[in-house]
Amino acid sequence: MELTEEERGLLAGEQGRAARRAMEILVALGNIYGAKRMIEVKSVQVAGVSYDNLGDAGLEFLEEMAEDGRAKVLSTLNPAGMDLEDWEELGISEAFAAKQKKVVEAFARMGIVTSCTCTPYLVGNEPALGDPIAWSESSAVCYANSVLGARSNREGGPSALAAALTGRTAEYGVHLDEARRPGVTFEVREALHDITDFGALGKVVGESLRGRVPYIKGIGHAKTDPLKSLCASIATYGGTALFHAPGITPEEVKEPDEKVFVDREEIEQAKKEMTDDEEVDFVAIGCPHCSLDELRRIEGQLKGKRVSRETWIAVARQVKEDAEREGIVRGIQKSGAKIAADTCFVVAPIRGRFRCMATNSAKAVFYGRAKNRFRVVFAPLEKLIEIATRP
Ligand code: F3S
Repeated sequence: MELTEEERGLLAGEQGRAARRAMEILVALGNIYGAKRMIEVKSVQVAGVSYDNLGDAGLEFLEEMAEDGRAKVLSTLNPAGMDLEDWEELGISEAFAAKQKKVVEAFARMGIVTSCTCTPYLVGNEPALGDPIAWSESSAVCYANSVLGARSNREGGPSALAAALTGRTAEYGVHLDEARRPGVTFEVREALHDITDFGALGKVVGESLRGRVPYIKGIGHAKTDPLKSLCASIATYGGTALFHAPGITPEEVKEPDEKVFVDREEIEQAKKEMTDDEEVDFVAIGCPHCSLDELRRIEGQLKGKRVSRETWIAVARQVKEDAEREGIVRGIQKSGAKIAADTCFVVAPIRGRFRCMATNSAKAVFYGRAKNRFRVVFAPLEKLIEIATRP
């Protein structure tokens, strides 16, 4: 790999130990993936924030890096294992909370903005067309590449942190034009509206990708909320960092010749596969984190009702604060539903706490089963509210 003088200096430890370790990580990755050089990134989003995933070894690594590591570009965090303020409300133990706070403090010492969210693009970390970035969380990466036209590989926690501390990433993968070329067209012949439709579409497309980048026709009308649902699902079920969709992706590419049609039948089949049974004891909304618009809809639907099951609505703290100003938070909390800021029901330590989770997120279905061993119900918002408030 060809390094600039400054990069060689970073590697030699001229800017401290953490920066040297960060550069070592980036050079190792660059060599593995055959990168020719480093590129400067415009922003970073770091995953690996929940103490539930990090454990003590992860916390120790972060505290060492925080001794002299400082972020060189705008860097934000993925959700933590708890609401950083109202963690008791979510039933998080004191022991967990103490460790989680240390994790977030270590990131803060490094100058990383502790807005813990998988929707950084809703709270001010919004890259532009062609911007090289180093983001970690798979739905956010997919949104950045596919909807905003920025360029990010799916970084792991350590490589994203390394990018934050050096302002660089190795140039490989979807930073290069050839890895962004679509290989198969999906023509959606059904009008999709609800975010569960888009989540199901992500599963249908994702499961037939076999490593190719999809070109999705027929969804050009989709707005932010369905798109974030699609991004989360397609990245989960297909492992892809991007898709192209005419009318959405601000990047000119050629439509691939191979074509697959997606009809209502496939969408409904995918939904069926994401539902186990109906004895729900946990309702989970906000994967990816809810937008202000979604919070407004939730509040409207909860008006005058009372939840009878544990109900979490996951959001970025900044979105919660915006909602507070509109009185939405009070409205939602009046129903007994809990606003879970800074966290989500996949990274929080809730394995075994519930039996069956109802959600409108195809991604949460996957991890609810795989990580938390929950049975699941996949349903649109109206149905989730009906379940949550059932006597
Ligand atoms: Fe976000 Fe957690 Fe879902 S990080 S995409 S809410 S699994």
